[in-house]
Amino acid sequence: MRSKLSFASALLASAQMPVALGQLNIDINNADTLKTAAATVMKSMVNDYTSQQPFSVGLLPPEYSFFESALFFNTIMDYAAYTGDSTYNSLFEKDFFAQVGSDSDFMPSNSSQRIDNDDVGYWALAAMTAAEFGAKPANSSNPSYLSLATKVFNNYVSRWDTTACNGGLRWQITSSTNGYEFKDTQSNGIFFELSARLGAYTGNKTYTDWATKIFDWTSKTGLTDAESSSGGGVVYAGVTATGGCKNIDKSFFSAQSANYIYGSAAMYNTTKSKTWLTRATLLAGYASATYFGPQMYVDDGSSQVVVETACEFQGNCTLSQKAGKNILFRSLANAITLNAGTNISSIMPRQLNNSATAAGKSCSDQGECAFKWSDLAYNPAQTSGFGEKTAAIEAWLTILRRANGTPDLAAAQSSTPPSTTSGGGASSTGGPAPTVTQSGKPNSGATLMAGSALGLVAVVSFLQALL
Ligand SMILES: *[C@@H]1O[C@H](CO)[C@@H](O)[C@H](O)[C@H]1NC(C)=O
Ligand SMILES: *[C@@H]1O[C@H](CO)[C@@H](O)[C@H](O)[C@H]1NC(C)=O
Ligand SMILES: *[C@@H]1O[C@H](CO)[C@@H](O)[C@H](O)[C@H]1NC(C)=O
Ligand SMILES: *[C@@H]1O[C@H](CO)[C@@H](O)[C@H](O)[C@H]1NC(C)=O
Ligand SMILES: *[C@@H]1O[C@H](CO)[C@@H](O)[C@H](O)[C@H]1NC(C)=O
Ligand SMILES: *[C@@H]1O[C@H](CO)[C@@H](O)[C@H](O)[C@H]1NC(C)=O
Ligand SMILES: *[C@@H]1O[C@H](CO)[C@@H](O)[C@H](O)[C@H]1NC(C)=O
Repeated sequence: MRSKLSFASALLASAQMPVALGQLNIDINNADTLKTAAATVMKSMVNDYTSQQPFSVGLLPPEYSFFESALFFNTIMDYAAYTGDSTYNSLFEKDFFAQVGSDSDFMPSNSSQRIDNDDVGYWALAAMTAAEFGAKPANSSNPSYLSLATKVFNNYVSRWDTTACNGGLRWQITSSTNGYEFKDTQSNGIFFELSARLGAYTGNKTYTDWATKIFDWTSKTGLTDAESSSGGGVVYAGVTATGGCKNIDKSFFSAQSANYIYGSAAMYNTTKSKTWLTRATLLAGYASATYFGPQMYVDDGSSQVVVETACEFQGNCTLSQKAGKNILFRSLANAITLNAGTNISSIMPRQLNNSATAAGKSCSDQGECAFKWSDLAYNPAQTSGFGEKTAAIEAWLTILRRANGTPDLAAAQSSTPPSTTSGGGASSTGGPAPTVTQSGKPNSGATLMAGSALGLVAVVSFLQALL
C-alpha cells in the first residue's frame, strides 16, 4: 500500500531527527500534565486569534473556512468544562455572538467568507454544546443557545431536498454556488448529529425522527454501509445529485465518520435500540481501523496514533482537513460517554491514549503543534494552525474526561437542573437543563479537586462566567 511505504520512510526520517527541545510531554496517567498541556496550547491559540491584524470578531484569519471558527469556540467551551479553567469564558461570551447573524442562523450577511451548510452546522453544534453545558448568554438580548441550534435545525429541514436522490441536504445553500450539485456527508452528518443531540436534550420526537430519516437516507444512498452486522462502517464523502445519484465520491475523512458516530451514540443512548448500538459500533470500528490504522506503528512498536489517512501520508491535507482530528476526538469522547460500558468504549482506549501521548510530543512547550503526530516531535518548519491546536487540546480532554469519570452532557436527560440555570434555554422548551453526574472516581491529580467534582466545578465556573 502506497501509504505504508511513504509512512515507513517518513518514520525513518523522523527517527533520525533530534528530539525537539521543549516538547509538551504528557503522562496520560497524570491529569496535571494534561491540564498544563491544554492550558499551554490554549494560550498560544487564543493569542493567534486575538493578535490577528486586521481582526474580525468571532472569526479566525481569512484563510480559514467559516466552520473552523466554530470549532475554535467549541474547544474553548470543552476546555473550560473539562479542566475547570475559566480563563477564556469571557472571550467566548464576548465574541461568539458576533457571527450569529441578524436572523440568528449563523449566516451573517456581511461575512467575508463563503457559508455552506456544513459551515453553518458546526456553529449550530457549538451552540448545542453550550446548551448542553447549561450555559446562558450573559447579554439577555442574545438568543439562547438552544434557539440557535433549533433555528439551524429548522433551516436544514426546509433545505432537505427531494428533487434528487430522494432527499438529503446539498452542500451549498444557493443553487448558483459551485458545489450545489453535491450532497455531502459533512452537511448531512451534522444535520444527523444535531437532530440526535436535540432529541436527547429535549425528548422531542420530531428530532429523533429526523435523525432516523437522515441516517436512512445516507444508507440508502450508499454513503454508509453501517446498516447491518455485515457492513463495514465506512462513511463516504458524498454523492453528485445529477446523473441519477450514482456518482459517489468515495473519499473518506475522519470528520465524516465522527458526526455519524456521535449521532448514532446519542440515538442509542436515547432509544436504547440495538439497531443504533450496532450502527455506532460499526462506524466506530471503521474509524478505529481507518483513522488510527494498524499502519501507524510508532513509539513502542505497537502504538496506534491518529492519522487523517486520505491526505496525511501524502502530506497534502488542506487547512480544513487539518481540523478533522478536532472533530474526531470531540465526537469520540462524547460517544464514549454516551455508551459508557458498552461497545464503543472498548474499541479505542489504547488508540486514544497513544494519540494523546503523541500529541504531547508533537507540541512545543510554547504551545505550537504539528499536524503529523506520528512524528512524535514538533518541527518548527511544520504548520501549527488552529486545526492542529484544537485537535491536540481535544485529544487531551478526551483522556481527562475519562480519568475523572466525567459527567456528561448526556446526563442532561436524567438529572435535575442546577438552580442557577432555571429559566435557561433548556427549560424554555420544557426539557430538563443539563447538569453533571457525580459518579466519578477521585483522580490522583491534586489540583483536580476531587473526582467528578472536576466536572461539576468546571461546569459551574463555566456557567458563572456566562450567566
Ligand atoms: C458587519 O459589519 C459591521 C459594520 O461594519 C460590523 O460592526 C460587524 O462586526 C460586522 N459583522 C460581521 C459578522 O463581520
Ligand atoms: C447586548 O446585545 C445587544 C444586541 O446584540 C447589543 O445591542 C448590546 O449592546 C449588548 N449589550 C452589552 C452590554 O454588550
Ligand atoms: C418539537 O420540535 C419541533 C421542531 O422544532 C417543534 O415544531 C415542536 O413544536 C416541538 N414539539 C414539542 C412538543 O415541543
Ligand atoms: C457489543 O458487545 C457485546 C458484548 O461484548 C456483544 O455481545 C455484542 O454483539 C456487541 N454488539 C455489537 C453491535 O457489536
Ligand atoms: C493528495 O494526494 C493524493 C494522492 O496524489 C490525491 O489523491 C488527493 O486528492 C490529494 N489531496 C488533496 C487534498 O489535494
Ligand atoms: C447514556 O449516557 C449516560 C451518561 O453518560 C450513561 O450513564 C448511560 O449508561 C448511557 N446509556 C446507554 C444505554 O448507554
Ligand atoms: C489509557 O489510559 C488510562 C489513563 O488515562 C488508563 O487508565 C488505561 O488503562 C489506558 N488504556 C489502555 C488500553 O492503555
